[in-house]
Amino acid sequence: MSFLNEVEPLKNAAMEEFSKAADLAALEQAKSSYLGANGKFTALLRQMGSLSKEEKPAAGKLINVAKGEMEAVLSKRRTELEMSASLPKEPTDFTLPGRRRTIGRLHPLTQVTNDIVRSFRKIGFVVADGPEIEDEYHCFDALNTPHDHPARDLQDTFYLEENQKKLLRTHTSSVQIRVMAKQQPPVRIIVPGRVYRRDNADATHNPTFHQIEGLYVDKNVTVGDLKGTVEFVFKELLGSEVKLRFRPHYFSYTEPSFEIDFTSPMVKKMGKEWLEIAGCGMVHPKVLQEVGYNPDQWTGWAFGFGIERIAMIRYDITDIRLFYENDMRFLKQF
Ligand code: DAH
Repeated sequence: MSFLNEVEPLKNAAMEEFSKAADLAALEQAKSSYLGANGKFTALLRQMGSLSKEEKPAAGKLINVAKGEMEAVLSKRRTELEMSASLPKEPTDFTLPGRRRTIGRLHPLTQVTNDIVRSFRKIGFVVADGPEIEDEYHCFDALNTPHDHPARDLQDTFYLEENQKKLLRTHTSSVQIRVMAKQQPPVRIIVPGRVYRRDNADATHNPTFHQIEGLYVDKNVTVGDLKGTVEFVFKELLGSEVKLRFRPHYFSYTEPSFEIDFTSPMVKKMGKEWLEIAGCGMVHPKVLQEVGYNPDQWTGWAFGFGIERIAMIRYDITDIRLFYENDMRFLKQF
């Protein structure tokens, strides 16, 4: 019977060793040194055979209880060690970019649009949207465009046959009117979208293309804000070496109006000094009045530019038609 006195201290020693095991390997080692074929506890069990018939049931119970306790500690420690083995050693940085898409990729025009939107979001602009099938009011009248303006000509604009008042929008400027008519200032929006013109397709024209419109209306908005904003975004998009130039121009919905030219080492390499890139200006008081804003109280600026143009400069693409052909050899490069 004397060996039964050893059960309790041996069990305690085993449980202490199990719960202190530093890793899974150490735990397995400790387990086998007690419970393995040559383990200390197993050796004790072997002595059961020397007990009498009357002694056996009590001894068996004692040993089983001890074994159960040891196994409980063993499995608790194993779970703890497994959990900590699967935790990262360093704290997780949740600001790191996620995994790349595994199938397909975004069209280069979508990529450029996303980048433009991201830049404007950084400085507080939100994306607005409007219909591609427009009416003359939003596309021209409300933008102070005279009735004899060539843009209204059947030669330049696609009108829908059943109703000459309905047309495919020729620019995203129509969304300026839709947004302002619905909300009070301040307004700070950008509008990426598809536009349509009766152009024959060639290397630099297509009957449909994409624009981004910007509109900012608030108190005391100036041309300085316009220049600073446009410069910030173009530097983000096309690199810090870009230079911009504002040239006086005419648009019916802005006064004063400008055309923005842009230059960079890339433009010089193309053998040019400057490239026209956008139209812009201070929102015309008549436009503000039309949407019910008081032009003595509010001022604003607007701009519009072509997304294809930006993508062509950015990726050195010389033919606009490549964007619409869905040729995998082209698309795979982005
Ligand atoms: N809508 C003009 C175009 O399609 C671009 C433009 C010029 C937009 C001046 C504007 C602006 O908002 O102020 O060519």
